[in-house]
Amino acid sequence: MASTNCEKLLTATDRINEFGHLEIGGCDVVRLVEQYGTPLIVYDETLIRDNCRRYTKSLAKDGHRVAYAGKAFLCVALCQILAEEGMFLDVVSGGELYTALTAKFPVERIYFHGNNKSADEIAMGIKAGVAHFVVDNLYEYSLLKTLAREAPRPLSILLRVALGVDAATHRYIRTGQHDSKFGFAITGKDLDFVVAGALSDQALLLEGFHSHIGSQITNLGVFRQAVEIIFEIARHYRDKHGWQPTEINLGGGLGVKYLPDDEASSIEDLTGLILETAAKQMAAGGLSPRLTIEPGRSIIAPAGTTLYTVGSIKNIPEVRTYVAVDGGMTDNPRTALYQAKYACMLANRATEPNEGVYSIAGKSCESGDMLIWDHPLPAVKSEDILAVFVTGAYNYSMASNYNRLPRPAVVLVKDGTASIMIERETYADLVRLDRKR
Ligand code: LLP
Repeated sequence: MASTNCEKLLTATDRINEFGHLEIGGCDVVRLVEQYGTPLIVYDETLIRDNCRRYTKSLAKDGHRVAYAGKAFLCVALCQILAEEGMFLDVVSGGELYTALTAKFPVERIYFHGNNKSADEIAMGIKAGVAHFVVDNLYEYSLLKTLAREAPRPLSILLRVALGVDAATHRYIRTGQHDSKFGFAITGKDLDFVVAGALSDQALLLEGFHSHIGSQITNLGVFRQAVEIIFEIARHYRDKHGWQPTEINLGGGLGVKYLPDDEASSIEDLTGLILETAAKQMAAGGLSPRLTIEPGRSIIAPAGTTLYTVGSIKNIPEVRTYVAVDGGMTDNPRTALYQAKYACMLANRATEPNEGVYSIAGKSCESGDMLIWDHPLPAVKSEDILAVFVTGAYNYSMASNYNRLPRPAVVLVKDGTASIMIERETYADLVRLDRKR
């Protein structure tokens, strides 16, 4: 019997092998640690591909599209996998765009997001031939208008709108409400101005509207609301200008199970609800835009597991036992930022019974550098390998070099074979940009 109820988080290609070790994608994680060291982020290729296929199979028909949200995690090898899976890609900065271009990700499948794109970033996107710009605000609109004149063909744009839908999720990852830094308010004059301006501009091709209401959403009802409101907006401007919107983009946001007993809806629950709600709207309103969605977390979070080596252990009698690992908030700031909760397992002794309750601390000089509070585990010893599950989204992509800690290596596993996706940072990397006086 395995030691924790983490078996519920094991994916179809995870198992506990005859040595009592966790295996991901056919790779014994103890061997992975010997080869690549820790902290190590392990991505399960089969699961990434399966999740992409579940989205495309259930939504991408009749011209509808699934764009992976690169902010959740992006690197060259992942872009290559996404391209093979026929996915579109949402990038949010020149850096994400550069990563996609390096991977030769098809530019005609790229959406360029961001609430403060610089003129340089926009120019970079135009030069690369990015297919769609998701325009967030008046300033970006004015930059784009000027830069579009130099473009070889009209630039396809979507206008991001803040729908006023309040997704019940952490305050920092809610985005669709009126009081948000993202998108055009649907109540002010700015949106009227930009729609009218874009429709009369030969260098711009206004395709439709975009919204993203938030992330880690477990109550799907808010998506129904979002679809209804965005279609209402589309109808309003259709009627006003006699123009047919050709695209409605609903952003991402599907929540995942971080803990074994968390509730989460499935990919098909979300796509089914979107298609059903949109079909009603289309039938009633005489609109037939393509639908695009932009999932990040629900594709990549469950496919990632972080492996750490246990170092110091501090017991405070009657209070708590702290187990320090060789990473922490630098590779996973989500506990510190959002009070996120994670489940873990001793990956080298996965069949041993739980004997205590431990709190997993990082190695940064900061009391808030905690990964997990009060988690049952077998009697933990220094040098044990700790696996933290569901760390594939917004961990590496939000990693930092606080305390000049190098960022971890990232490997991809499949059918018993591992390959490096991102090398471990070295100390030399850390001083590469430093200049002596
Ligand atoms: N589209 C847009 C425009 C977005 O802003 C986002 C996420 C997504 C798609 C993807 O959403 P997802 O399917 O991954 O929920 N750092 C936070 C999450 C921030 C989400 C930002 N936007 C976290 O660690 O929870």
